[in-house]
Amino acid sequence: MNFTLKIWRQKSREDKGGLQTYAATDIPPDASFLEMLDVVNEQLIKSGREPVAFDHDCREGICGSCGLMINGRAHGPQRGIATCELRMRSFEDGDTIVVEPWRAKPFPIIKDLIVDRTALDRIMAAGGFISVRTGCAPEANTIPVPKDKAEEAMDAAACIACGACVAVCKNSSAMLFVSAKVSQLALLPQGDPERKSRVDAMLAQMDAEGFGACSNTYACEAECPKEISVLHIARLNREYIRAKVS
Ligand code: SF4
Ligand code: FES
Repeated sequence: MNFTLKIWRQKSREDKGGLQTYAATDIPPDASFLEMLDVVNEQLIKSGREPVAFDHDCREGICGSCGLMINGRAHGPQRGIATCELRMRSFEDGDTIVVEPWRAKPFPIIKDLIVDRTALDRIMAAGGFISVRTGCAPEANTIPVPKDKAEEAMDAAACIACGACVAVCKNSSAMLFVSAKVSQLALLPQGDPERKSRVDAMLAQMDAEGFGACSNTYACEAECPKEISVLHIARLNREYIRAKVS
């Protein structure tokens, strides 16, 4: 397959940046989007030009580092997958594909397609954990967890912290991300002792990082590669009210 790529190139945070056009030729239909970029980069390197900087790690939808805006869609045209899981057969031969980084004020561009998503790490550091004593692992069945709660918690824990929900939100809100991280612990007995302080601290850090408010457009849920439900945002709001009034 052959494609025309319009890729955002930006040397540094301060650089103005702009779209540049490249040809991607002889791409196997089963190649992933990142493998297609690898091919383009090999050609750029061979011709003495600077390869395109893009983020990636696991290449199997787990780590959350590969977020790209592809033809204006976070992680591309397919629902429920990350950029690294997107195959080139999802496009038509001869297509022009526009590739851009996440665009959100709390995610400044580092270079080309790579943005700084450490704001999400700082939200996690503010409260997205449980405090436990180190030592021997407790016996697995000492704290029974109802099956339905375990399933809901696991659904929330599927969030890979990619930041797509922020990038597609007109307010750059991180509410879907924070709600998933609060939910995965609020639903389990292990998360109960720090329940109030957690939601308070994580939301305060979210505001401090400059993320916007949720205005219920549900763009986040539609573009999330793990199909995290906005019902978790409802739980986050309930957790916050509970922390404030009790
Ligand atoms: S909620 Fe979805 S879109 Fe947002 S960071 Fe988590 S996995 Fe990515
Ligand atoms: S490279 Fe890890 S989720 Fe895509």
